[in-house]
Amino acid sequence: MHTYASLDDLSAQDRDLAHAALAAAAHAYAPYSGYAVGAALRTRSGVVYRGCNVENAAYGVVLCAEVGALAAANVDGAGAAVQAIAVTGRLLAADAPRSDAVVTPCGRCRQLLFEASQRARHDIRVLCCNHDLSRIEVTSIAALLPAGFGPASLGMA
Ligand code: THU
Repeated sequence: MHTYASLDDLSAQDRDLAHAALAAAAHAYAPYSGYAVGAALRTRSGVVYRGCNVENAAYGVVLCAEVGALAAANVDGAGAAVQAIAVTGRLLAADAPRSDAVVTPCGRCRQLLFEASQRARHDIRVLCCNHDLSRIEVTSIAALLPAGFGPASLGMA
């Protein structure tokens, strides 16, 4: 992973994507974990789709932010055109311990992004951001999920 000290190190497009993820996190429904996540993905044509985490009293059925963004892109017919995704998260409690950790997509989201990369036939850029975008690590789905199980595993081209 490459570590970027600030947003200024990113392209304008990637900066906008990180800000879109931050805005999406404001709509998170996370009363159980107290952890708000926002995701924003960009397609090859430059369209941005956002998602936030949506929790549930039945804890296991939580929707991750990345799931919302990917679903939105698919609804628009852009599921095979995902180029990059930014993810940011923060603890909501006023007395939460200060953390500068960036959010890295969970295992299930990596699998979903891996499928999107196989459909796109190229790697997907992943911007892992901390709570205020002062720390951003740029990586890719191929790096986050090496040797992933995908269409080729089922004999599909
Ligand atoms: N979460 C996401 O939305 N995306 C991730 O990649 C990591 C985890 C959410 C799920 C849950 O609502 C909260 O963060 C704490 O796990």
